[in-house]
Amino acid sequence: MKILYATSEAQPFAASGGLADVAGSLPKALAAEGQECIVVLPYYVNTIKDSHKENIRYVDHFYVSVGWRAQYCGVFQTELNGVTYYFLDNEYYFKRDFGLYGYYDDGERYAFFSRAVMELIQKFDLRPDIINANDWQCALIPVYYNLYYRNQYNMQNIHTVFTIHNIQYQGRYGLELLEEVLGIPKHYKNIMEYDGDVNFMKAAIEVSEKVTTVSPTYATEILDPWFSHGLDRILKSKTYKTCGFLNGIDTDMYNPEKDPAIPASFSAKSKSGKRVCKKKLLEEVGLPTEDDAPVIGLVSRLVEHKGLDLIKCAFDEMISLGCKVVILGSGEAQYENFFNEMHYRYPDKVSFTCGYIPALAKKIYAGADMFLMPSKSEPCGLAQMISLRYGTIPIVRATGGLKDSIPDYGEPDGKGLGFTFQSYNALDMLGAVRRCTELYYNDSKAWGALVTRAMKADFSWAQSAKLYIGLYKELCGQQ
Ligand code: GLC
Repeated sequence: MKILYATSEAQPFAASGGLADVAGSLPKALAAEGQECIVVLPYYVNTIKDSHKENIRYVDHFYVSVGWRAQYCGVFQTELNGVTYYFLDNEYYFKRDFGLYGYYDDGERYAFFSRAVMELIQKFDLRPDIINANDWQCALIPVYYNLYYRNQYNMQNIHTVFTIHNIQYQGRYGLELLEEVLGIPKHYKNIMEYDGDVNFMKAAIEVSEKVTTVSPTYATEILDPWFSHGLDRILKSKTYKTCGFLNGIDTDMYNPEKDPAIPASFSAKSKSGKRVCKKKLLEEVGLPTEDDAPVIGLVSRLVEHKGLDLIKCAFDEMISLGCKVVILGSGEAQYENFFNEMHYRYPDKVSFTCGYIPALAKKIYAGADMFLMPSKSEPCGLAQMISLRYGTIPIVRATGGLKDSIPDYGEPDGKGLGFTFQSYNALDMLGAVRRCTELYYNDSKAWGALVTRAMKADFSWAQSAKLYIGLYKELCGQQ
């Protein structure tokens, strides 16, 4: 099978969050399973490192309709890990200075990209069996395919899958975009419209043959208004084509035995390097290293749905349990201010680094004892899996992919991997932190066994890549 994976970001080229990890690792896993895989993403010329650009070559260009205009689209190409990457270039849209998204014309930028993906397939005669489009930025791909391309020469019999990584970001704009920018005539308005707006994600849910999301629990949760950000009504009518597959992580990239980004290597069999990582982490962030207090790591975008309000409520109590807390992240000012304040209140116990610093993130995964993710909602979450791999015990709210990946330590089957709590409540979170720190302090043998089990847990893509392949084959009518 030939699979075209369309995404607005992918490791190692351009990343702002978990989508980039998935787009960097799932195609590689599909290729390892013998599938032909193509990834298409925008050519963010200011973001992609020169060391990568050296291997990326210009191949061709064409023009793409955006409303009534024709816009230049350059095509660049490279190969990596058995996967072919196409980068679609237009400096007006993608040469920007302040991150990948958040510009006034994002709707137009990704409408251009989506239409350009269709033109690429046609002009390069790619003939994929499957297009898997991801999140709102690529949501117009299945829409354009169905409206304009599916009956054209060399464009027939392409099957469409749309994957939701986070339902909160939908690509919602005023209806005036419809004809002028998206180039979609009024008589197709019903496909694009939702609650009086143009809604990219809703349209993809409407027209794609399958809708997937990134964990089985999230696939159910988004049918509930508490999680759906308004899309439960459309999703309820599409349950026959919706499912959830748990993401994996790239176990080569996240490997404490071979990771050059951490100060000492370690493994489930030989864990002494982890103590070195803890000491070096504390030194780096300026916290004392003499005592053996448990270190809680937190690496997150500082936004509401990550559950930071619970941490705000229970912070003093967490510190009174004897913990140190190492925080890395950036986002809303209210949370950045709060963590700065906590650092000043507890200078020997709390460190806060404001930013998105992958190298420090790895040192936290490796050097902390526990990792806190009290998310209000979490489609999948990758940090809990990465933490496990580095022997750091997750404390999570049982929602979305956190629920599907972290069985509780207290379960009678003895297979628990972390500490979980159910309701979105600060005292419940504190209860989970307390259970975790008690085990750490009172039973070092059991703690050691838990760390070993965590490190041995398998969250590689092997399993889930097979589920995607099964779905793709079903669409192609293969066994
Ligand atoms: C989004 C979700 C996160 C998920 C990631 C990759 O960032 O918020 O939960 O792990 O996408 O699918």
